[in-house]
Amino acid sequence: MEISITRTTSPRPKPEDPRKLGFGTVFTDHMFLMDYDPDQGWHDARIVPLENLSIHPGAAVFHYGAEVFEGLKAYLRDDGSVQMFRPRDNMERMRTSAERIQLPDFDAGFMLSAMVKLVELDQDWVPKVPSASLYIRPFEFCTDVDLGLHSIAHAQMIIILSPVGSYLGGGLKPVNIMIEDTDVRAVRGGTGYVKCGGNYAAANRAAARAEKKGYDQVLWLDGVHRKYIEEVGGMNVMFRMGGKVVTPKLTGSVLPGITRRSCIQLLRDKGIEVEERLISVDELMEALAAGQVEEAWGCGTAAVISPIGSFAYQDKQFVVHNRVIGPWAQDLYDTLTGIQWGRLPDPYGWIVPVPKP
Ligand code: PLP
Ligand code: COI
Repeated sequence: MEISITRTTSPRPKPEDPRKLGFGTVFTDHMFLMDYDPDQGWHDARIVPLENLSIHPGAAVFHYGAEVFEGLKAYLRDDGSVQMFRPRDNMERMRTSAERIQLPDFDAGFMLSAMVKLVELDQDWVPKVPSASLYIRPFEFCTDVDLGLHSIAHAQMIIILSPVGSYLGGGLKPVNIMIEDTDVRAVRGGTGYVKCGGNYAAANRAAARAEKKGYDQVLWLDGVHRKYIEEVGGMNVMFRMGGKVVTPKLTGSVLPGITRRSCIQLLRDKGIEVEERLISVDELMEALAAGQVEEAWGCGTAAVISPIGSFAYQDKQFVVHNRVIGPWAQDLYDTLTGIQWGRLPDPYGWIVPVPKP
């Protein structure tokens, strides 16, 4: 399918000081769209100036939440070229998400070429300061104008781009985590293993409670036993304990993070043992109380490697690694971001270059 391109005639000003970029509030000049209906399949692929959408208020996405999304980044290399990190993995995960919600499937290769085209066009928006990048947000949603509950017939796919700095505000400053014991985010058989908007809506109440108490993020326990550590709001979680790294295994209610997968590979290639297994909150509490949690960090596209400085659970509070980043998290951050920014070689084939415009 051809992608038609309409360039903006009134480019927006770029952020004045890219060092002050937060996360996801500034957008570039263009967006990609395409539409789906049962007769034509995906059609009308187009890149157009970014503008508000016009969608019927009866569209099912507003009422029943049929939406899936992805998040990945493009990075500026020291030689001035731009590259993306593992975009195929994101597109394959988005297909899995679409299947779970029964949104129309799509060609991952075509979506990859659409992302490359869009980033190529808005290449000047990739921030030129260390640790900032261009966040790519593809999303697909149901556009059926129908308040009945039916299978999905019409959908739209959009890609928007946002120059971003640090997600949690403080770069590598350790974050404070509240372990949630009341609400649950996901259960096996539900949607926890995919990236759909509804998962994040279900997380809002606990996240708001945590924020009010001064915590940065919620750590979720499994929805059945309320016992096993799952993941943090927007990132997977890893612990350095007993000379190895331990991370919750993918049970079906945890998002299979692409950063998680990359970290596991990098750690193993550094000779570090990584255990993917069930970790109960009691085990974690005991290890924290005994000073056996040497480091803890979250990992995700937006969060990169985010050291964890403290955990709170019910009436217990524990500090990790004196609230400063530990050596393993720092080393992992350096290797991962080294590959992402093209300062280290990529022996894994994770990088996709974006052509110069
Ligand atoms: N878990 C959740 C709930 C997330 O939203 C994210 C972010 O995408 C992650 C984990 C990390 O996934 P990834 O590394 O693919 O960004
Ligand atoms: C990402 O890391 O890409 C995410 O989607 C997390 C998001 C909730 C900010």
